[in-house]
Amino acid sequence: MQPPSRLGLCAACHGANGQASQPGVPNLAGQHLDYLRSALKQYRDGSRNVALMRAAIGPVSDVELDALARWYSAQPPQVPSR
Ligand code: HEC
Repeated sequence: MQPPSRLGLCAACHGANGQASQPGVPNLAGQHLDYLRSALKQYRDGSRNVALMRAAIGPVSDVELDALARWYSAQPPQVPSR
């Protein structure tokens, strides 16, 4: 699978592979596709009102949003390190 063109908007916080690099940022790897897609639409339309996520997803089209949800959903979930 090719990384989506907009992945760079997300990777600083969620990692390119969906393993968050910062505390307070959720891991996205292996989450259900429908869940990710609907969460992203809620940030974009403001029904989930989180400024950081609204700014990140605001300029993303439906096609790109779908590609990002598919990408993160397809990443292997985190293996606990301890
Ligand atoms: C500046 C850091 C930052 C950037 C950039 C960012 N996010 Fe987030 N993201 C967060 C934080 C913090 C949350 C938790 C927000 C909340 O409490 O609802 C979140 C939540 C999410 C969720 C919901 C996860 C869940 O379990 O409900 C998804 C999906 C998501 N981000 C995807 C993305 C995508 C796709 C991009 C790129 C377009 C992106 N994020 C860019 C910080 C970021």
